[in-house]
Amino acid sequence: MVSALRLYTEQAFLEKAQQYSAVLSSRGVDVEIEVIEKLAARFLRLNPELALCVDQEGLWLSANGMKMQPDWQGETGRLKRASLKSEMIARACNLSEKPRLIDATAGLGHDSLLMAHLGAHVTLVERHPILFSLLEDTQQRALNDKILHAAASRIQLVFSDSADYLSQQAELGNTFDVVYLDPMFPQRDQNQQAPKKQAQVKKQMQLLHLLLPEDGEMDLGDNLLPLAQKIAKRVIVKRPRLAVFLAGQSTDQQWLGDACRFDAYFQHDLKM
Ligand SMILES: C[S@@+](CC[C@H](N)C(=O)[O-])C[C@H]1O[C@@H](n2cnc3c(N)ncnc32)[C@H](O)[C@@H]1O
Repeated sequence: MVSALRLYTEQAFLEKAQQYSAVLSSRGVDVEIEVIEKLAARFLRLNPELALCVDQEGLWLSANGMKMQPDWQGETGRLKRASLKSEMIARACNLSEKPRLIDATAGLGHDSLLMAHLGAHVTLVERHPILFSLLEDTQQRALNDKILHAAASRIQLVFSDSADYLSQQAELGNTFDVVYLDPMFPQRDQNQQAPKKQAQVKKQMQLLHLLLPEDGEMDLGDNLLPLAQKIAKRVIVKRPRLAVFLAGQSTDQQWLGDACRFDAYFQHDLKM
């Protein structure tokens, strides 16, 4: 539970801010709304502590003079260039089959946006209440965007811990073509042999890291792999290129990129 975060807004967006506040509160996040004159870069620099903001573009997370929201619009260039052949994630997740896929570690939803764009039907699960609220807001904007509409409409958001969600699916006897896992990994940027461009995580990731637990307390998601294997013929795990295997389990097949890799686990005898 995150408590009493500041939520900055301008008078013109107060009603909107109150709506976000109610939604966040229903998810266990209490915010204190503060109406300010101008929600500009200077204000954010002078108020560097972690906070939320509401303006004409919706809900943002802010800290250290920066603000961020999942940037699905910023992904449109990549989506336009992406193809089933060119994207390693597409080969790993077998996207040519238009799979029913659970992305159990949503984050900013960028991987899932790409997968949905390439044809997957995605259930996107996130447990962090603020991240989930940011994602929900981003999806609404994407649904109103000509280019993003089709992909966004193939994504269904679920606010849950994936360990619970995957267990529930197993109990219900539901199966999926793919479960995709990209859990946090400590000190991604200290991965010694990773290319330099990886060493500087993007601004969005910096803010994401402020929201999520510190390295020592980080949940590395090892428990998700056996749960995913109960309900999907194919489990794909995204890892930094040289990271240890998730749950120490060696992979059936691997796709290696410059900075990351995809490890596949196949359950050939799973009844679908
Ligand atoms: C590395 S980020 C994923 C980035 C994502 N692939 C993207 O494209 O933006 C990991 C995310 O998984 C979420 N997460 C980790 N374990 C989870 C769990 N058990 N249930 C739900 N979400 C989880 C974290 O809160 C975090 O937002």
